[in-house]
Amino acid sequence: MSGLEVAGVVLGSLPLVISALEHYTNGIHTAKRYWRYKSELRSLILQIDTERGIFINTLEQLLSGLVRIEHMTEFLSNPGGEVWQDVDVQLKTRLRSAYEVYFGNVSGMARSLKRIREKLALDPGSGKPQFSDPSLFKQEYKRLQFSLRKSEYSEQLSDLRNHNQALTRLTQQSLELEPSRAETKTRSCPNFNALQSYARSLFDTLRSGLRCTCEGHAIKLRLENRSNKAEDDEDLLGSTPFRVIFTYNSAAPATSWTWKEADIRWIVDKPISVPVSSCGPKLTRRVRFDQVQTSSSSTTVTVTQQHISVITKPTPEQIQDLCHAISTLQQPQLNICAGYLLDSLKRKHGIYPLDIPICQDKQEDWSAYTLRQVLTRRAGFGRRLMQHDKFKIAVDLASSILQLYKTPWLNDDWGDDDVYFVHRPGAPLSSVYQHPFIYRKFSSATTNQSLVPPSPVRSIIRNQTLFTLGVLLIELLYGTSIEELQTPHDLACQGTPGAVWCTAERLIDEEIALEAGQLYADAVRRCVRCDFNRKTYSLDDQDFQQAVFDGVVAPLEKTLQHFLGQD
Ligand SMILES: *[C@@H]1O[C@H](CO)[C@@H](O)[C@H](O)[C@H]1NC(C)=O
Ligand SMILES: *[C@@H]1O[C@H](CO)[C@@H](O)[C@H](O)[C@H]1NC(C)=O
Ligand SMILES: *[C@@H]1O[C@H](CO)[C@@H](O)[C@H](O)[C@H]1NC(C)=O
Ligand SMILES: *[C@@H]1O[C@H](CO)[C@@H](O)[C@H](O)[C@H]1NC(C)=O
Ligand SMILES: [Zn+2]
Repeated sequence: MSGLEVAGVVLGSLPLVISALEHYTNGIHTAKRYWRYKSELRSLILQIDTERGIFINTLEQLLSGLVRIEHMTEFLSNPGGEVWQDVDVQLKTRLRSAYEVYFGNVSGMARSLKRIREKLALDPGSGKPQFSDPSLFKQEYKRLQFSLRKSEYSEQLSDLRNHNQALTRLTQQSLELEPSRAETKTRSCPNFNALQSYARSLFDTLRSGLRCTCEGHAIKLRLENRSNKAEDDEDLLGSTPFRVIFTYNSAAPATSWTWKEADIRWIVDKPISVPVSSCGPKLTRRVRFDQVQTSSSSTTVTVTQQHISVITKPTPEQIQDLCHAISTLQQPQLNICAGYLLDSLKRKHGIYPLDIPICQDKQEDWSAYTLRQVLTRRAGFGRRLMQHDKFKIAVDLASSILQLYKTPWLNDDWGDDDVYFVHRPGAPLSSVYQHPFIYRKFSSATTNQSLVPPSPVRSIIRNQTLFTLGVLLIELLYGTSIEELQTPHDLACQGTPGAVWCTAERLIDEEIALEAGQLYADAVRRCVRCDFNRKTYSLDDQDFQQAVFDGVVAPLEKTLQHFLGQD
């Protein structure tokens, strides 16, 4: 018998024991002599029922990710069969050496329950009491000699409880150990918290920089895979530009300026090391002095003049009116800051304008297409998503979720409508899919995030942001919208969060691994089911963040590397 089948036996025994105890309690009503046992039996029932609840709970936790949540009850109430064998094999992988210990304890529970059934004189075959008429209680009690005293079950009860507690502990431990085990060399993830708080502050700063009354301002933020790590947050942010495109959509195009592309980077004001005017002789090795006077009679060194070479960059100035500054951004020079915005913490966000390609192609204007338009082939330009584009965009999107969640750049109910691709003037078509962008309007109406109260069905979707990422990964892979992948059966699935969810679940079960490989399929599955074996589903939790990085971003990166033959 497999470990899981033993668990099935326990699951089956517990209700039988409880209903037998209830049967006897009813019988006692007819035999006044035994009334004093009534409360003992009730207490037994309560205790066993408690253990049953705990056992089911642990088992559900153990099986999460292996058995779908909505199938859990059905799965647990029909022990045995092929499905159970499959799941048992997966459990062995999940638990490894803990498997024996785990099911050793389950067997322990099964043994205690067997003993209890014997003491209750239940029918060995059916596990039910050997009489059904409660009024026969007195004579049957004399014949069968079952135990009614609680104390006679105390050994079994304490065994049951101890094993059950061991299971609870083991489940928690093995689930906590699992993700780090699965990924042999876990990389510690980039400091997404720093990136996220920078992104939020960037949004606020840009918005408050736009003091004009124009209505059409919007910004596209480039979504990028970021794997770089730095010693501290300042180094990280100082070396991490955020690429934006300032756009302006006006009803009167004549007055509108064209789109402007720029990098925005935190200018870290490091304290400049001030040259020391009098110092010990050791310094002379490092610094070249024009003129050094040494008094031969003493050991002191006096510096009279010092040459400091200054890179002649114009000092950037604070931008007061972003609207005006954007419209006058001119002929950029490489890496020259056109000015900076101050955020509420007085940090400088430098703007570094970028050149547009000058080669004249047919394409003369900026244009942008949403991912949805591309997927539904309404973008109207002649390039489809290549496999390489898909895998690369997948990495950019996944990494960006970790950078932008809970910032105004990314709403909880984001979707393929919010993701854009940009065609620059003069740039070849092949460049369009290089990076996705997220688009945000800067009109006052969109500043308040809509707070959608979670509906009960939504709770199957444990985290909407990640669920959407999973759906987008599917859409990307197939190069089409999720609606077009629906079957009539998906539309009919009842009691679920809807057709999109059903389609995603079906494709995860049946196709994605075959279409894109196991790593990609794992990433999609984890997003859609929020299957990270963590107690929390919030990206605010550092541990969960790392789990999402290991479970989604890393496998997507590997998929891309495999595809490029880079490993
Ligand atoms: C039950 O689990 C504990 C660990 O919590 C372990 O030490 C013990 O050996 C297990 N019991 C059996 C019978 O395997
Ligand atoms: C946004 O919400 C805040 C309160 O949360 C409210 O004071 C403010 O007026 C709202 N702004 C808009 C534009 O609705
Ligand atoms: C999903 O993750 C987002 C980002 O961390 C968080 O705001 C949200 O609360 C999470 N949802 C749940 C149900 O935990
Ligand atoms: C992600 O970006 C890092 C640098 O930030 C780079 O080393 C890595 O190769 C990139 N991965 C992919 C899949 O593009
Ligand atoms: Zn303006």
